[in-house]
Amino acid sequence: MARPFVLASNRGPVSFSLDDGLLTSRRGAGGLVSGLGPLVRNTDTTWIAAALSEGDRRAAADGMIEAEGYRVRTLAIDEDDLELAYNTIANATLWYVHHGLYELSRSPSIDIDWYDAWAAYRRYNRAFAEAIVEEAAKDAIVLLQDHHLVLAAPIIRDERPDVDVVHFTHTPFATVDQLRVLPELARTELLLGYAAAGAAGFHAARWSEDYTNAGRTFLGVRTQGFVSPLGPDPEAIRALAHSPECDAELAALNEVVGDRMLIARAERLELSKNLIRGFEAYDQLLAMRPDLHGRVVFAAALNPSRESVPDYIRYRMDMEATIDEINARWGTADWTPIHYRAENNIHFSMACLRRYDALLVNPIRDGMNLVAKEGPLVNERNGVVLLSREAGAWDELAGLVIEVHPYDITQTAQAAADALDMDPEQRSEMAADLVDVVESRTPREWLNDQLAAANELRA
Ligand code: G6P
Repeated sequence: MARPFVLASNRGPVSFSLDDGLLTSRRGAGGLVSGLGPLVRNTDTTWIAAALSEGDRRAAADGMIEAEGYRVRTLAIDEDDLELAYNTIANATLWYVHHGLYELSRSPSIDIDWYDAWAAYRRYNRAFAEAIVEEAAKDAIVLLQDHHLVLAAPIIRDERPDVDVVHFTHTPFATVDQLRVLPELARTELLLGYAAAGAAGFHAARWSEDYTNAGRTFLGVRTQGFVSPLGPDPEAIRALAHSPECDAELAALNEVVGDRMLIARAERLELSKNLIRGFEAYDQLLAMRPDLHGRVVFAAALNPSRESVPDYIRYRMDMEATIDEINARWGTADWTPIHYRAENNIHFSMACLRRYDALLVNPIRDGMNLVAKEGPLVNERNGVVLLSREAGAWDELAGLVIEVHPYDITQTAQAAADALDMDPEQRSEMAADLVDVVESRTPREWLNDQLAAANELRA
């Protein structure tokens, strides 16, 4: 018989708000919910998440809640602890380490405040572990998601030897050299946290190998991960892409683009996505190819993210300055080269994915990069995907995309030109093959891999 399982992630499937003192709920944001949501909705799976808003905190007081088809428990972690654990450690330390985002001449600075934040990260993980210990049915499986929840497994294992714990990482995993920037104490604690989860999963073999290397180098033990790439749910994403809201956004986008070609990108406004170099490459493309002036538009649907991290604010300002310069340099009375919107608007993102001729996905390093798979599923123009080898998705899509080198702007510009110039027959073959590959892997299989990893522990 299938064992019950508990899911835990920082961001939950439902977000609560207070409207005139009344608690209302709506579906939470984020990729995890869109992938896993349909699989656990209307089941008895419990999903434990941090209370991220005032409404979430109110909901936390009620313990387990049924909302939007989910059984959720939000945790009202001390607000200062949450801020330090989420922003200083998860977002500004672990995220940077795993994605290689530090400019080492300046950061990180591991000072007394950082150590305070580390202590908060421990307490945050303890709060999750305690809730899981309470909620998990006998012999349940516990699925911990992502870098926010690395220290919970040892506590759960101590208190509940009957459950099996699996940790799944949605980011890349840092190389040995990248991990060296962490203080030894934190690095060891992290690696022991992963190891305490009986199984550690990753989207790509490279990240799993990095994890094994870290265990060997820093703990002197053989830590082995499993590889299970997540893919979008084809039916769900197509239904969303054809909703009336997306149709309306597409009509509006078509007003802007007209019969020009479209390069697009759609993702979080995030350093690891390498947004600035993407626009610089477009600038070079326009410099190289006067024939494209007035014939191409670059649409960017960027979802503002982690705006309490100062680097993100600076990055956004620099990126917007770059966009303005490019539009000023090349734009004419009836052509704006870059159409940029920074808002949390899934419908506009879907419109861009339906309409692109070339989709730019050029991350510095990225766990999966789901958009590289979502795009081909909903695209209506046999669009070409320009993909960085540093995206986890590369492992599955190589051969069906054009490679872009994340640091080589000139190469990226040339790759974009190649995509726009590709002959229709080749485009249509490539697009059809991409759809086949993407459709061959569903979120259900991804979830099953985690459950199977837990069952193997038992066996
Ligand atoms: C990445 C992480 C997720 C995270 C998401 C959104 O995909 O792997 O854990 O939830 O980004 O980031 P946020 O900080 O807004 O939750």
